[in-house]
Amino acid sequence: MDGDVMVDAARLPVKSRSLRQRGRLRTPGGVHSNVRLAGPQRFIEYAQGPWLFDVDGQNYVDYLLGQGPNFLGHAPPALVDTVNEACKRGLIYGGQHKLEVEAAEVVCEALGWADMVRFGVSGTESVQAALRLARAATGRTKVVRFEGHYHGWLDNVLMADGATGWGVASAGQVAGHLDDFFLLPWNDIDRLADTLAWQGDKIAAVIMEPIMINAGVIEPKPGYLETVRSLCDEYGVVLIFDEVISGFRLGLSGAAGRYGVIPDLATYGKAMAGGWPVSALAGRAELMALFGTGKVNHSGTFNGSVMATAATHATVSFLRDHQPYDSIAEHGRALMDGLREIGTRHGLPLRVQGLPMAFHVSFGDGDVTDYRSLQQLNLARYTSLAASLVEHGLWVAGRGVWYVSAAHGADELEAALTRFDKTLTDWA
Ligand SMILES: Cc1ncc(COP(=O)(O)O)c(C=O)c1O
Repeated sequence: MDGDVMVDAARLPVKSRSLRQRGRLRTPGGVHSNVRLAGPQRFIEYAQGPWLFDVDGQNYVDYLLGQGPNFLGHAPPALVDTVNEACKRGLIYGGQHKLEVEAAEVVCEALGWADMVRFGVSGTESVQAALRLARAATGRTKVVRFEGHYHGWLDNVLMADGATGWGVASAGQVAGHLDDFFLLPWNDIDRLADTLAWQGDKIAAVIMEPIMINAGVIEPKPGYLETVRSLCDEYGVVLIFDEVISGFRLGLSGAAGRYGVIPDLATYGKAMAGGWPVSALAGRAELMALFGTGKVNHSGTFNGSVMATAATHATVSFLRDHQPYDSIAEHGRALMDGLREIGTRHGLPLRVQGLPMAFHVSFGDGDVTDYRSLQQLNLARYTSLAASLVEHGLWVAGRGVWYVSAAHGADELEAALTRFDKTLTDWA
């Protein structure tokens, strides 16, 4: 192994191995995002629908979906044509254009609760915009965040996980940037209530993934989000939902709609634009309008480009008009049941938890409600299985999250379960 459980360079097929060697000479680690250091390093020739095809001729059923964005499958023909056509009129004008208005309208209408939206390029930067806006609106600086929740790679939100000790996660990261954050266990309402009672007048925002997808796909306990909402109201704290993964995936109105709890601000990305690089910060008018006064800065050369707004408009309109959510859930449920059944048949303590459109696979048992209890599971054993799943034609992440798209159908279900079964036979 290459210092990395998912990558055994000696086992890579020949063309991927050679490209990997070349790539590593010109790109650190051979990847352009450190997340991919831990991913399958087979080189992809092309992708179509829910399938990936690599340079060595192997195909994969894709349940990673580029870490979530390809919610309609890869290169959905209707969207590719629409976006390409729009781009023929130019990409960035340094001025406004009609698609920006239309994309903002369709996003706010789909969400149902948000009055206004600002587009960005990555989830990371939209999170920063949300934090700045909350601080500007409240005149406070502290922020409450939660163990295991991911909000991007910048200095003030990136954290090492509890296994290695909470704190900076990267060399070069300025530790002091984490000082303004209170880090709490999630799904524990008493800890939040105590923190707000203690420091409520200094706290600008509470930020969370409203369903903790990044670590374990763990749902909020019944009543948790509602109580968080009312505590934020009581203390005048801005509630930010980071819906970069859950947004448009759990339904048109994301986790806010599913759980019936409305934040003040929310961030989106990934599924919102079907694979094109777009993020958004959406929220209530009285907060969002602060950007419009010019007093709170949010900028970006590529924000609201023709490509981004065409992709967002086309994706959200497609989701609204075609409502693929029931068929995605049907596929996801059948897949989760099938994996469980195969695990049982092989006598393995396979654990499959979460929602049909995003679920988590691991080994072990126990009541998992937050990041700490997630550590009871044997996550490393699953990471080792994931490497073998890739070799058998299932493109999955080593951290256990599986994403389902609207493009997955009966053929992919059958292929996935057959390949999973064969992997367990070979791996055990
Ligand atoms: C919940 C959440 N927030 C923020 C981000 C950062 O988004 P990006 O990778 O687009 O910067 C991610 C990325 O996975 C995420 O899952």
